[in-house]
Amino acid sequence: MDYKAPRGTHDLWGANARKLHALEETCRRVFQKFDYSEIKFPTFEDAALFTRSIGEATDIVEKEMYVFEDRKGRRLSLRPEGTASVVRAYLENGLAQSMPLGKFFYCGSMFRYERPQAGRYREFYQIGAEYFANPGPAADAEVIVLARDVLRAAGISEMTVHLHTLGCPSCRPSFRKSLADYLSTQEGLCADCCRRVVTNPLRVLDCKIDSPRLTDLPRMVDFLCGECVQHFAGVQELLRAAQCAYEIDTRLVRGLDYYTRTIFEIRSAHLGSQDALAAGGRYDNLVKDLGGPQTPAVGFALGSERVLMAAEKLNTGIEAPAPRVIFIAVAGKSLEREAFRLAAHLRSLPAPGALLPGAIAFSVEGPFADKSLKSQFRLADKLCAEKVIIFGEAEFQRDAVTVRDMATQNQEEILIGSF
Ligand code: HAM
Repeated sequence: MDYKAPRGTHDLWGANARKLHALEETCRRVFQKFDYSEIKFPTFEDAALFTRSIGEATDIVEKEMYVFEDRKGRRLSLRPEGTASVVRAYLENGLAQSMPLGKFFYCGSMFRYERPQAGRYREFYQIGAEYFANPGPAADAEVIVLARDVLRAAGISEMTVHLHTLGCPSCRPSFRKSLADYLSTQEGLCADCCRRVVTNPLRVLDCKIDSPRLTDLPRMVDFLCGECVQHFAGVQELLRAAQCAYEIDTRLVRGLDYYTRTIFEIRSAHLGSQDALAAGGRYDNLVKDLGGPQTPAVGFALGSERVLMAAEKLNTGIEAPAPRVIFIAVAGKSLEREAFRLAAHLRSLPAPGALLPGAIAFSVEGPFADKSLKSQFRLADKLCAEKVIIFGEAEFQRDAVTVRDMATQNQEEILIGSF
């Protein structure tokens, strides 16, 4: 074997590919209930779009982007997340004008050069949503309830919503300064955090090494301006109204710099250290920072692999059964044409009718006229076919075929015209 999939990537096939598809379909149904419409955007963008939105002093921009030059020397990056692209698409396509409500969702893979481990990949699938132009707490609460409902529909019966606020540009700087002052008195911070005290002190709260031993930290909630206090209270009131349980987590920060006010992360106790199933928050200045008019926004994204893993641990995952199989067998090459014709006809039916009562998804396999009847049956067995339609010379003279039920081994003759 000369080639392997790149480190941190994985192939998906069979039941796992079906589960990812079923998860996306389930989410689509929930998004529809909340009136979000789907948006597709490129897998790569101008690298500066991400640098500018996510922030120069973040791990994603400093270490994790897949940046490359195309043949004309353009500096591009595989998308590490979806929010920046949705904002770019929103502005570039004038969606504020053409879509009465700026509510979008997306599914697709994202790319980050992280150290791979269980639940952390270099290419991973996200499902996310962005809600533009609603400055009120109702939009924050809607997005959090949406994330909860999406996870519930995906079979996540146990989760914890961690909620916090990062304030706004008028109150955050004083918190940031107080935090930086406090951190500069702390000895023995890890190398990354020593740097972050200057570049991005909030990220120290997220450090797995230093954060746990820091006590009496200044808290953002004590620095909030009146409007941010009111907004945060409004979000909580609406979450309670929707019976969405949450915990205020004053240590919660995010790995992306565009957030203002509400941030949240939904965690599962059933995953190891990579326990964030979904995360998001408000970003009221990003649209303007990317050259558009002042437009508030809020959104979230979930990690599909993590959601599927957690649902599996809870034994409540989405069912993604394989289609039920009808196998067409032929006794001899001379009947191949007729068997092929019947296979095409069966596939054109919306449902397989009396052949497989109640089947929603079905496959028609065969004919394999070059194989012996015995090996066609062996294959039908391996494929877990429920019914085998056998074209035999004698029955065919009567315009009929034999249908064998593979579970009971019962056989009956059926007129071809009745399919
Ligand atoms: P994020 O927290 O970077 O936020 O990612 C959201 C989710 O994607 C995480 O909670 C996690 O489940 C999953 N995830 C992130 N990195 C990996 C990885 N390397 N391997 C597997 N899963 C991963 C965002 O991306 C924001 N764009 C969310 C947002 C939307 N905020 C506002 N709107």
